[in-house]
Amino acid sequence: MTILNVYRSKSALVYTLIFIKRHLITFRKFRQLYTEFWFPSPSRPPYNHICQIGDPVLRYKAEELNAEDIKKNEIQGVRKRISALTVSFGYRDVTEKIYEEFSPEIRKSREMAIIPFKVFINPELKITNYEKVCFPEACESVRGFSADVPRYREVLVTGLSAEGKPVSWQVSGWAARIVQHEMDHLSGRLYTDIMVRSTFTCTCWDKVNRTGGRIYVPFSPK
Ligand code: CO
Repeated sequence: MTILNVYRSKSALVYTLIFIKRHLITFRKFRQLYTEFWFPSPSRPPYNHICQIGDPVLRYKAEELNAEDIKKNEIQGVRKRISALTVSFGYRDVTEKIYEEFSPEIRKSREMAIIPFKVFINPELKITNYEKVCFPEACESVRGFSADVPRYREVLVTGLSAEGKPVSWQVSGWAARIVQHEMDHLSGRLYTDIMVRSTFTCTCWDKVNRTGGRIYVPFSPK
């Protein structure tokens, strides 16, 4: 190999590296543009998706609605969302799905039952049994995790229906837990604020081990 050839091959290598570098940058830019196109930068609440822990919106205290607000279509639409502003409810199909995941023994110990669709506007909570029970709890806004959370056994929730009429619901067990969980959302609180910290669990930790850590931890466990 002549000196000239060495020089040529070296410069070819340098040019190749420059070419790759240039195109990598271009690729990065392309990826950025592509991402921005599909996920335009920050949208503002109210969102149609369920926000995740850390989002300041989850710490806002919900404001009360007046009679005029209740009539607005916007509020009627909100009924279809989970944990929405001043509306708190159990979703029959959601609770039915969760209910079926548990054994009869667990259902019994946690006083679980399928909860009918309920709407409470400007809800208020009264504790009717100060006994506390501690069971695992999860939240759509803390996806992929769960923890034991102490809750009052029985509560009374009062408020207005979607039509603006006074309604009340005396609940115990699992339903009481859900009511307290949803009422906490309206005050900007999450279960992580009151959970038994040592029980905070990634719901797919066993899959992490089974795959030797080569797993994409999902946004949702299922
Ligand atoms: Co929640």
